Amino acid sequence: MHENDPTAILVRCVPGVGRTAQPAGMLPGYRPHPPAPPARPGPARPGTTTPEGAQPVPEEPEAPATPEDPEAPEAPATPKDPKASATGAMPDASAPPAPPQDPPIRILLSPPDVGPAERELLLDAFDSNWIAPLGPHVDAFEREVADRVGAGHAVALASGTAALHLALRLAGVRAGDRVLCASMTFVATANPILYLGAEPVFVDARASDTDWNLDVDLVEAELDRAARAGEPPYTALVAVDLYGVCADYDRLEPLCRAHGVRLIEDAAEALGSVHGGRHAGTFGDLGVFSFNGNKIITTSGGGMLVTEDAEVAARARFLATQARDPAPHYEHSELGYNHRLSNLLAALGRGQLAHLEDKIARRRHNRDTYRQRLGDLPGVRFAPEPSADDGRDNAWLTCLTIDPDVARTDREQVRLHLRARGIEARPVWKPMHLQPLFAEARVLGGAVSAQLFDHGLCLPSGSSLTDEELDEICTEVEGLLRG
Ligand SMILES: Cc1ncc(COP(=O)(O)O)c(C=O)c1O
Repeated sequence: MHENDPTAILVRCVPGVGRTAQPAGMLPGYRPHPPAPPARPGPARPGTTTPEGAQPVPEEPEAPATPEDPEAPEAPATPKDPKASATGAMPDASAPPAPPQDPPIRILLSPPDVGPAERELLLDAFDSNWIAPLGPHVDAFEREVADRVGAGHAVALASGTAALHLALRLAGVRAGDRVLCASMTFVATANPILYLGAEPVFVDARASDTDWNLDVDLVEAELDRAARAGEPPYTALVAVDLYGVCADYDRLEPLCRAHGVRLIEDAAEALGSVHGGRHAGTFGDLGVFSFNGNKIITTSGGGMLVTEDAEVAARARFLATQARDPAPHYEHSELGYNHRLSNLLAALGRGQLAHLEDKIARRRHNRDTYRQRLGDLPGVRFAPEPSADDGRDNAWLTCLTIDPDVARTDREQVRLHLRARGIEARPVWKPMHLQPLFAEARVLGGAVSAQLFDHGLCLPSGSSLTDEELDEICTEVEGLLRG
C-alpha cells in the first residue's frame, strides 16, 4: 500500500475502524451492511424520499425493502397482478392478510421549490454550451453567495460534503489528527473526518433555551484537559448550525483561537440565518453550505465553501479541480479531487438565491403556524429559536419534542399517524455517537442528543407548503394528541 493511500490511513488511525475483515472491493472503515434481501415486487411510490430525508425521488424503482422496514410495501400476488395472471399464480387463501399499506407521500418534509426564473437560467446555461464544472454561472453564483452572506470569497462545489472535505483539508487535518465534531447532525458532517484518516471526537448537544447545538462547556473542558495532559492539540472543530440555528460562536470563536484549533462552521442547513449581526457561514475559519434538494435553496446537489482569505479560496479551487499544476499537459504533484459544481447547477442556484428571503419568510410562517396550533398540546415543546436580539434563524425545519410521559403518545406514533395519511415527518438526526459507523468513537457527554433523538420530530417545512396542507397537518397532530 502506498503511504498516501487514504484507505491505509483509515486502518491505522481510526479506533475500531477497519479492524473487521472487509469483503473484497470495500473500503476499510465501512462495516458491511447486512446482505439485502432479494427485491420484492412492489409499486414504485412517486415522490418518496431518500433515507437521509426530504429529497423526492420521482418514479424511481425502490431499493429493496428490508423486512425490518415498517414502511415496506407489501405486494402479494393478486388476481389483478398482471404477472400473477400471466403465470397462472393465484393468491394463497391460507396466507395471512397483508398489512394495510401506507398511501404515497403527498406532503413531503422539505421538497425543492423552483420556479420559472430557475428554468430560464438553466436554459441559458444549456444554450451557452458551458456544460462543465466551470463557467459564467459558477463565477456569478460564487460572487452572489459571498455578497449575500458578507464573506470575502465563496467556492462553488459539488456538495456540502465536498465542501466539508475541503474545509478539513484546508484546516490542515491529517491522518491521525483529532477533530471535535457536533454529534447531533447528519452523517455528512463527520464522514469527511474519516476521509482524511483523522479521528472524530463527538460533542453532545446542550439543552439550552436558545439552541440544540453543541455544548461549548464540554468543548472547553476537553480542550483544557487535553492541554493539561500534554496531549497533541486538536486540529479542528466542526460546529453545526442545527436546523438553521447558529451555534454559540460568541464563545466558540475565542475558545478555538486560544487553543489553536481551526473552527469550521457546517452551515449546510443555515443559509440566510444571522447571529449577532453576522451571517451563518462566516464564523470561524471556514464555512460550508449545502444546496442538496432538501435545503432552503437547492441546485439538486451542490455546496459552497466560504472564507475571508483569497489564498485559501484559490487553493480550494485548485484542490477541487484535481490539483492540476500549471502546465500545458496534465501535471499533478498533490492529491486533488473532482469537487467543483456544474455550471448548469450554478445557474439553478442563482435563480434560487434570488428568492431566499421569500423562502425564509414562508418557512417562518410554517413554524409560526405550528407553534400557534400545537404549542399548547400536552408534552409538546418546540425547538428553541434565537431571540430577536441574537439574530434570526432561517427556520429550515420546524422541529419539536414530544414527552411520552405527558403526551401519552410518542414521536414515533405521531410520525406513523402522519405517514398513514401521506404526510412525511421525520425523527430528528440520530446523533453520530449512536451510529454503528462510529460505535467506537469517543464522545463527550451524549445523553442530551440521545434524548432529543428519542423525542424529536421534524414536521413538513417546505417553502411550497400551502396553508391548507399546514392546516391538515395541525389537525392530524391535534387530533392524536388531544385524543
Ligand atoms: C448538517 C449537514 N451537513 C452536511 C450536509 C451535507 O450536504 P450535501 O448533502 O450537500 O453533501 C447536510 C445535508 O445534506 C447537512 O444537513
